[in-house]
Amino acid sequence: MDQGQTHILGIETSCDETAAAVVRRSAGGTATILSNVVLSQLKDHAPYGGVVPEIAARAHINHLDRLIGQAMGEAGLAFQDLDGVAATAGPGLLGGVIVGLTMAKGIALSQAKPLLAVNHLEGHALTARLLEPVAFPYLLLLISGGHTQFQIVEGVGYYHRLGTTIDDALGEAFDKVAKLLGLGYPGGPQVELRARHGNAARFEFPRPLKGRKDCNFSFSGLKTAVREVVHGLGTLTDQDVADVCASFEAAVAETMSDRLKMAVTLFREAHPDVAEPALIVAGGVAANARLKAVFTNAASRHGLKLIVPPARLCTDNAAMIAWAGAERLALGLTDDLGIAARARWPLDLAQTPVYGAGRLGPKA
Ligand code: KG4
Ligand code: ZN
Repeated sequence: MDQGQTHILGIETSCDETAAAVVRRSAGGTATILSNVVLSQLKDHAPYGGVVPEIAARAHINHLDRLIGQAMGEAGLAFQDLDGVAATAGPGLLGGVIVGLTMAKGIALSQAKPLLAVNHLEGHALTARLLEPVAFPYLLLLISGGHTQFQIVEGVGYYHRLGTTIDDALGEAFDKVAKLLGLGYPGGPQVELRARHGNAARFEFPRPLKGRKDCNFSFSGLKTAVREVVHGLGTLTDQDVADVCASFEAAVAETMSDRLKMAVTLFREAHPDVAEPALIVAGGVAANARLKAVFTNAASRHGLKLIVPPARLCTDNAAMIAWAGAERLALGLTDDLGIAARARWPLDLAQTPVYGAGRLGPKA
């Protein structure tokens, strides 16, 4: 193998995806994904309308071993070929995080390889650099089932949170609206599908925190407004459902556009020298076409280079954990085998906590 190359096994078990991947980092910092295996437990949790932590932890125990074997096999490597073992150490559902982290510790210990205990959010934050050589600093918008936040990614291990949700995560809001309408879990894709045939002007839902001079989000009032409309309608026709979905999506889109404008202003104040900052949008909600249009428009209006990783790297996966591990290893940031799993672990440790930040959602 070439000098300076590293091969990292990544393990992700913080929510309802059991995942293992092997990533190669070249001496120059470019990445190659050698394998990326994800087992979704969606079907196990669907009857409960959300993720059940005990079911998730048990499923990770049952499948992780095999998935790691598959990831190593597809990469054509043996454990002794690895340069490090990375696992999500938080934030997330504690039982699941413990399963993955303990497995990583076992492999690291038995093979005498460095352990890389990765913050799941750092995995999302650095995914852009797994795809292409994006220079620091850049702007990250993370919109998933458990998190909704803007971060300035200053460097590996250096994050500055510009704003976060003060209540529900955006994906959670989509899921709750879907549940109100009887559309099943996960709700985001269902809401999007129904919204396509709906009249977005039929219901005037609130645009939470619009115009505020910070970058925070709030979605619980919007969800309550949707609930009131749905209850007021009584029995829902297909058209009612479509109109509620379209009106909800329109409120979210306008809110996002407003918050994004604020985030760009704050980014430019912090880094006036960066001519065309990259905007990375990560998390499952980034798959939404209506919102993608908002990001594309905002990027051209504000002079940003938009990067939306493909869905398999945008939603929870182990390649992003392996890559964050590779970036950390390159800087000598390895971890002690005694490191503990954490349910809560904000990326930006200097920030004063906001209720909802780094919180345990259905997913991180
Ligand atoms: O990133 P993700 O797969 O898991 C984590 O939360 O980490 O995100 C899942 C969330 C769910 O809340 C799901 O409803 C939402 O992303 N989602 C969407 C869409 N696809 C997934 N929300 C809106 N529109 C979509 N097309
Ligand atoms: Zn995630």
